[in-house]
Amino acid sequence: MQISLLVALPFAVKAVIRLGVPDIRNDAAPQVQLTADEIATRIAAPSGRAADPENLDRLLRLLASHNLLTTTVSGTERRYGLTPASGLKYLASNEGRSLASLLLFQTSPEFVSPFEFLHETVLDPSVEPLRRAYGVGTFEFLEKDRALGSLFNKAMAGSSALVMSSLLQEYKGFEGLNTLVDVGGGIGENLALILSKYPHLRGINFDLPYVVNKGLQIRDAKLINMDVLVVDTSLKSQSGFSIDVLMLTYLNGGRERNLSQFRKIAAAAGFSRVEIAVSVVNQTVLEFHKIDR
Ligand SMILES: *[C@@H]1O[C@H](CO)[C@@H](O)[C@H](O)[C@H]1NC(C)=O
Ligand SMILES: *[C@@H]1O[C@H](CO)[C@@H](O)[C@H](O)[C@H]1NC(C)=O
Repeated sequence: MQISLLVALPFAVKAVIRLGVPDIRNDAAPQVQLTADEIATRIAAPSGRAADPENLDRLLRLLASHNLLTTTVSGTERRYGLTPASGLKYLASNEGRSLASLLLFQTSPEFVSPFEFLHETVLDPSVEPLRRAYGVGTFEFLEKDRALGSLFNKAMAGSSALVMSSLLQEYKGFEGLNTLVDVGGGIGENLALILSKYPHLRGINFDLPYVVNKGLQIRDAKLINMDVLVVDTSLKSQSGFSIDVLMLTYLNGGRERNLSQFRKIAAAAGFSRVEIAVSVVNQTVLEFHKIDR
C-alpha cells in the first residue's frame, strides 16, 4: 500500500517547486512559521487571481509528513516552518545549489515513461528501456530535446554544487596537483568550484567520451572519482540501489559499483591502486593511482 501511494510525493514536490514555494519559504526567516494562506498570497498566479490556499495546504501537509517542512497546528490553523533538517530548503534556488531541477527532470513524463520497459532488461539484458521508448540513447535524446537537455544540465550542476561544497571542505586531494581534468564535466560547474578554492590549478573541462582514452595516458596521474559506493548487503545503499536502477533504465552499461568492481575497472584501465579518500554526503571519493607511491 505504502509503495503504491508513494507516487503522490514526488509529484506533490514537483507541484510546489513549480509554484515557487521553496523560495517563498526560504525567503522568510527560518523561525517564521507560515500558513498556507500566507504562502498562497506570495504565489504569482498567472490569472492574477489569488492561489488557492486549501489545495496548497493539501500538498504542504503531505510534504511536512515526509519531513520536508515542519508543521505546527493550533486550532484549525496549520503553520509551516523550516529547520536545518527540513528537506524543502534543498529545493530553493539558493544560487544554483539546488535539487529542484533534478526533481523536475526525474519526474518529467519523458524520463518517467521508460520505466515501462524496466522488466525487459531482465528478460533480455541488451534492452535499454529509454532507447526502447524513444529509439535513441539518453544523450542523443537530450541533445534533440533542448529544453530537457538544459534541464538535465541544471539538474547535474545543481546537485553536484551541493555535494562539491561539502567535498571541498573534507577532501584535500586537489592540493599538490598542477592540472585537473574534469572528464564528463558537464557545463563546468564542478571545475569552477574547485578552481575557486585552488586557483593555482590548470583546469580542463571535457565532456566527450573519447577523452577518457586520450587523456589518461599520462603517468604519474591519479583519477579522482566521486560516486556512490555500493555496500551490497546494507540498507545504507538504498539510494545507491535506486540510482543503479535509474541507470539500468537510462544508460547502456551504466551502474553503481562496489569496491571490488571499481578495483576491476581501475585495473583494466591501467590503474594499479584504488584508495578510499573520504566520504561526503553518502558519496565516496575514490582515488585511482597509476603508480604505487
Ligand atoms: C545517508 O547515510 C545515512 C547513514 O549512513 C542514512 O541514514 C541516510 O538515509 C543516507 N541518505 C541517503 C540519501 O541515502
Ligand atoms: C561486488 O559486486 C559483484 C557483482 O554484483 C559481486 O559479485 C561481488 O561479490 C561484490 N563484492 C563485494 C565485496 O561485495
